[in-house]
Amino acid sequence: MKTIKCIKDIPKFNKCNIHIKNEQELLEKINKIICDGSSMLQIVTDFDHTLTRHTMEDGKNVLTSFGMFRECPSIPQYYKDEDNRLSDIYKPIECDPFLSVEEKSKHMIEWYKAGNAQLIGVTFPRQELLDIGHEMIDSFRQGVRELIDWSRHHHVPVLVFSAGLGDSVVAALKAANFMLPHVKVVSNFLAVEMNDKITGIQGELIHVFNKNETAIKNTEYYEMVKERSNVVLMGDSIGDAGMAEGMEHCDVVIKVGFLGRNVDGNLPNYLDKFDIVLVNDPTMDVVNAILELIA
Ligand code: TMP
Repeated sequence: MKTIKCIKDIPKFNKCNIHIKNEQELLEKINKIICDGSSMLQIVTDFDHTLTRHTMEDGKNVLTSFGMFRECPSIPQYYKDEDNRLSDIYKPIECDPFLSVEEKSKHMIEWYKAGNAQLIGVTFPRQELLDIGHEMIDSFRQGVRELIDWSRHHHVPVLVFSAGLGDSVVAALKAANFMLPHVKVVSNFLAVEMNDKITGIQGELIHVFNKNETAIKNTEYYEMVKERSNVVLMGDSIGDAGMAEGMEHCDVVIKVGFLGRNVDGNLPNYLDKFDIVLVNDPTMDVVNAILELIA
């Protein structure tokens, strides 16, 4: 086992878009994870714009999981119009650097309830989403395949924790062959009747700022990671930084934030919540560089 003496000794960390909150603290976290080894580690990651990129090389925005659903041919125009209207109202609130998490949470609950109500009665043949999933393969960050391969090889569980639409997340992961036994998805899944009509979302709604204890407890994933106290966590929104908070047994959490929007306004807030903030980085290089240090 080889611990590191300085963060900058890891070559992938020597880029100007990498911001580190506290180098000494990060160094200690990385060395603890190296010493404990892969048997104590778990990986917790958001999906939208975390496993996937924010934009493609040509500047086109990458579809979110709700966006994938909207692209399905059966989805009626009234749903799309209402979804756009709600996004125009609530997305700026979600990303507002000046509002508190408490204030934002109230608005997110309104958004998710209104969005959920719109879903009811929509006809949704699942195959359509599987087809869209195939179009997402190139949208994954460069290096996600290496991350999934590394975690499979080292028997490290991966939780894909999404406040988006779980059915879309699974469709994209399946299309890329990432939906392996060590990869679990906790998200909002559609309740669909035999006649393909949506009746709502199954269970409790997971929104951007309650992605923590309520959602992970009592899942198959929680059982898999009960003994694993070290976490590498990745997200693209401030709320994602709290994704491991429901696992009290977790000791060291290295939080990696991908920042791709409102960079100047949000950087201080992101640095407050994440150990490492990657600005406009379409890769998993930094995370993979940490994993490669672990036996
Ligand atoms: P996440 O990427 O952090 O898991 O969050 C999911 C995103 O989905 C979040 O930005 C809110 C957004 N969303 C929609 O795009 N459409 C919807 O109908 C709802 C309820 C949420």
